[in-house]
This record gives sequence, C-alpha cells and structure tokens, in this order.
Amino acid sequence: MSRKIQQLPQLLIDQIAAGEVIERPASVVKELIENCLDAGSTRIDVDLEEGGKRLIQVVDDGQGIEEDQLPLALASHATSKLREAEELDRILTLGFRGEALSSMCAVATVEIASRTAASDVAHRIVGRHGQVELSSPVALRHGTRIRVEDLFSSVPARRKFLKSNSAEVARCSAVIKAAAMAHPTVGFSLTHDGRTILKYPADQSLPQRIAEVLGEDLQDRMLPIVESEGVSGWIARPDVQRRNSDGIWTFLNGRTLKDSVLQHGVREGFKGYQIPGFFPVAVVGVEVDPGEVDVNVHPSKLEVRFRNRESIHRRIRRAIRATLEQEGSVPKLQMDAAVSTVSETVAVADASIQPTKMDHGEILSESGSKWRGAGQDSDHGLHEAVATISTSPTARVEPATVEAGEPGLVGESVRVFQVNDAFLILEEEEGLRVIDQHALHEKVLYEEILENREQGGASQGLLVPETVPLDPRAWAIFVETRESLSELGLEAEEFGEGVALIRAIPHGFEGRAPANLLRDILSLMEPVVSAGAPLPDLKERLLQTMACKAAVKAGQPLSQEAMEDLVRARGRAFQPENCPHGRPSELFISWLELQRRFDRK
Ligand SMILES: Nc1ncnc2c1ncn2[C@@H]1O[C@H](COP(=O)(O)OP(=O)(O)OP(=O)(O)O)[C@@H](O)[C@H]1O
Ligand SMILES: [Mg+2]
Repeated sequence: MSRKIQQLPQLLIDQIAAGEVIERPASVVKELIENCLDAGSTRIDVDLEEGGKRLIQVVDDGQGIEEDQLPLALASHATSKLREAEELDRILTLGFRGEALSSMCAVATVEIASRTAASDVAHRIVGRHGQVELSSPVALRHGTRIRVEDLFSSVPARRKFLKSNSAEVARCSAVIKAAAMAHPTVGFSLTHDGRTILKYPADQSLPQRIAEVLGEDLQDRMLPIVESEGVSGWIARPDVQRRNSDGIWTFLNGRTLKDSVLQHGVREGFKGYQIPGFFPVAVVGVEVDPGEVDVNVHPSKLEVRFRNRESIHRRIRRAIRATLEQEGSVPKLQMDAAVSTVSETVAVADASIQPTKMDHGEILSESGSKWRGAGQDSDHGLHEAVATISTSPTARVEPATVEAGEPGLVGESVRVFQVNDAFLILEEEEGLRVIDQHALHEKVLYEEILENREQGGASQGLLVPETVPLDPRAWAIFVETRESLSELGLEAEEFGEGVALIRAIPHGFEGRAPANLLRDILSLMEPVVSAGAPLPDLKERLLQTMACKAAVKAGQPLSQEAMEDLVRARGRAFQPENCPHGRPSELFISWLELQRRFDRK
C-alpha cells in the first residue's frame, strides 16, 4: 500500500536543503573563510578537532556582527551582501545567498561570538538544529569567532559519508591553501587536534605565498605569467609535471574556482610543452567584469557560468603560452660532458635542474620536452631533430642522455636513438636495449587509462563536445559499447539516431582527433562485438584497441624529445616489457652476448 503524502517538518526541510551547501567539514571551512574575507579580515585562524567532525572553529579580525544582527546571521535567506535582484548581476562578495550559516545550523551546533569596532563587548549566540538560543555577552577581541560542533550528528546518513579524520583534514587544508593563494596579504593558520598544520603570515606577496603553499623547492621553478587581458599569476616550468590536476589552482575575481573552463585553459596553454596526460602546476587568477559571469548557478558556488567562455579560455591559454614562449623554457636535459656538443635541437645541459619532491604529489618528469604522438602534426622541430640524427656522420653524433624514470629499470641514464623509424635503441650500462616504439607507447597508454580509471579521473572534457555521424554498422557497435567506452574515459552519448556526441577523451589522447579515434575504435571492435564477447572481455579489448589507436606507429619518425619522453614513460610504466596484447615490446642484448657473437669471448 502506498504511503500518504505529508508535508515535511521544517527541520527536515532545512536539513535536506543544507545538504546542498554543506557536504563535509571542508565545505564548512570554505563558507566560514569566505565570510571572514568578505568581512575584510587580515587574519583567519582555523582549528579542527577530530577531522572537523567534532569541532570547526574559525576566528577572524574582521568587521564583526552587531548584537541585534546575530539572530539574522543564522536565519536562512538572510544576508548583508545582497539587496535586490539587479545586484545579482554584479556580485563582488564571495557570499550572497545568506544560506551558509543557516545550513550549518540545520545540521550542527553553531556558536557565533562577535564584536564590532564600535562595541566594548562581544556577544554570543548559539543555534542548534535550527533553534536559536538568545545572545549573551562574552570576552573577545574585535572580530568574529564561529564554532561549528558535531557536524551531522543529527543526520547520520550524511555523517556516514565522511572519510577518515586525516582525509577530511587534508580537504580542509586544500581549501585553506587555495584561499591563502587568492589572498596573500591575509594571514592564515590551521591546527588539527592542537597540532599546527598550516601557518601563513599576513602581508605576503603572491610569490612568497606560493612558495609557502607549494613548497620552497618550487620557488625557483616558478615563472610569473606575462600579464594580459586580466590573467595573472605564476606557473611552474613545464618540466614540473604531475599525475593529477591538484597542482592547478584557478581563481576568478579572487574566488577559488576549480572550474573546467579555467582548468582546461591552463592545460591547453601548456599543450606541446608537456606529455599529454600529465598536468602542470600553476596558480592562475583571472579578473573579469562581474557582469561577465553568473556565480549564482551552483549551490556550493563551485561553478559559475560565463557569458563568453571561449573568450575566458582563450585569454588564459594565450597568457600561459606567451609566458612559456617568452621564457623559451623548453626542456633542459641533463647530459654528460661527452655529449654536450650534440645537435642544436637537443637542449643544453643545465646542472641546476635536479629532481625534487614537492610537499604533495611528486614531480614526474624532469623534462618539459615536446611529445609528438600519433596523429599530431609533425612540426619543424621534429623534422630537424630527425634530420640531424640521420644525416650527421654517426661517429660524431651521439644521442642525448636521458634520466630514466626509475633507476634500476634501465640504469641511471641511457642514450637513445631511433632506427628504421620504428625502433628505439638504448645504450645501457650492461648492454643494448631495442624497443618497439609502437608496442611500448601502446603499453604506456594502456596503463595510463587503467590507472586513470582507478583514480576516477579517466577523461579530459572537450571544450566543445563533438558530434560524429556514424554509418549503421558503426552505430550498432557504438550503442553496444558506449557505456564501456565512457568508463574508459572516452565519454560519448547518443545524440540522435546515427550520431554520437563525444564529450571527453581519455588523458593521454589529446593529440588525436576525437571523431577519428571513435570511428577507428568502433571498426576494430566490430568482430569482437559480433562474436558476442562477454562484457569483461569486451572491455579489455576496448582498452587494448584504444591504446593501440592512439599510440605512435611504426614508420613514424620521432623527435629526440619524443624519444626521450617515451623512454622516461617506460621508466614509470609498471610492465613495459610487453605490449597490451602480451607480445614483447623490447629485447635486450648484453655486451657479453655481443662479444660472444663476435667470437671475442
Ligand atoms: N565572519 C563574519 N564577519 C562578519 N559578518 C559575518 C561573518 N560571517 C557571517 N557574517 C554575516 O552573516 C551573514 C550571513 O552569513 P552567511 O554565510 O550565512 O551568508 P552570506 O555570506 O551572506 O551568503 P552565502 O550563503 O552565499 O555565504 C552575512 O551576510 C554577514 O553579514
Ligand atoms: Mg557566507
């Protein structure tokens, strides 16, 4: 029997609504810090207990709240920042909905103590599960202290989704780091269970603050962005690469915003300077006319809508590109003295560049060299590099030395060159390694897709989704494999009968035209699908096919940089010795073996 429709009690309504704004301790920290910043604070101190689940306290030295306003601060849809609808068009404050504190109050105990400059005494108010207790005087310096206790204690369904204390603290810490970089003149601190986790002094310049947040190691590797069209900030040299986007910090008018247009713009700016699939480290702020952007589209204010997203994207991309081009910051590889006279297309030695660790995440590659994968236009540099190697007298030309990703796998450093446009030859300490370039690249991409899928970050959204008309056979295969494709990072949907819409491609596949990639994959999958392969086999074959289609081909000349990148990727790969189909991708001939063959032993 169906249950009767009933009006929900107000507290439950509020608790449901609060879920939109407050998801975890980090969202509380974000909202409270935004309030402090809106109140013109110069110091913000955050204390957490038990990962913020027991207590989140934020103290600021901002303008404070007057006594008679305190109950309103906890009321829903009550704000001092917005008066009329027209103002929604030009929001200059971080808050505007009047929802943050009331949401917290619906799912936790919230105490506000505050003192304005005009008052001799602070006042305090407590809200618990929607109910507000009256205010009482309390001792406090100027500013506001907000304590949020026992988050979600009355909403067990929500509390269950919280992670371990350390994981929640890590998220809170990321929120504070972002705010700290957007506001370098404001001092910040974070403690957890009495232990200091972050401490940034007030009145810092942006470079000083970046060094504090990202770690001193990175300080000499940061380049100031060539400011243009409202874009400013700092980027790390392209040789600093990471496996995820955690190192890309984007801001819009002082608001922390991990928005896809901004993030993608940054990555596009680095295109050609980094191995596809890796991410740069960058702190990028964009100033736009508030009228150009609508911040009122997401309950947690995490997304915005741009009037002209292409223009924002272009501005970021251009500024980063201009910075990289001006710096001429392409790759400086370490080479030993014996090979420092090699062709000009191979970068010169730079002893100052040493592998370094950063405070979070690791630097994956010490080269920002250009990777030119399959399907990408070969450019001048590539031809030059190839020409230099093939036309110079072999006795004089020695290939560059590459630092292998993992010592032991290929030794400390190796020399590499290409033969027959299909194989790479590596000179190692113990002998000679011959690598099938296609098989190795295939395996590298294969492992990358798998790893991305496990980390839940399988794909790279296309700025403009691409429609792909398909013939009936391809369409039938597409319908059959669409879900598995999306799972592997090639996100596509049915746009209409016979037309697919590609929304995202896997990381590492950026150089390929998405439509061709999809068509190629579908045609190769046809026999597998027609044979009625079970789902796990189908997925495995898809994965193999995707890697195969995007990998460099045999017969394709590679630039010195591309070869070096591939060798480096080999060092990082889990199992580079076999291609995804299980065939060998390399063979090794020891010096001993060679000597034996020449009857020297
Ligand atoms: N730290 C603070 N210092 C001074 N005033 C504050 C502080 N925190 C909150 N307030 C006052 O309380 C009001 C309500 O805060 P709340 O965060 O709930 O809403 P908001 O900031 O106006 O909008 P949003 O819901 O978008 O954050 C604010 O408009 C502000 O006037
Ligand atoms: Mg607010």
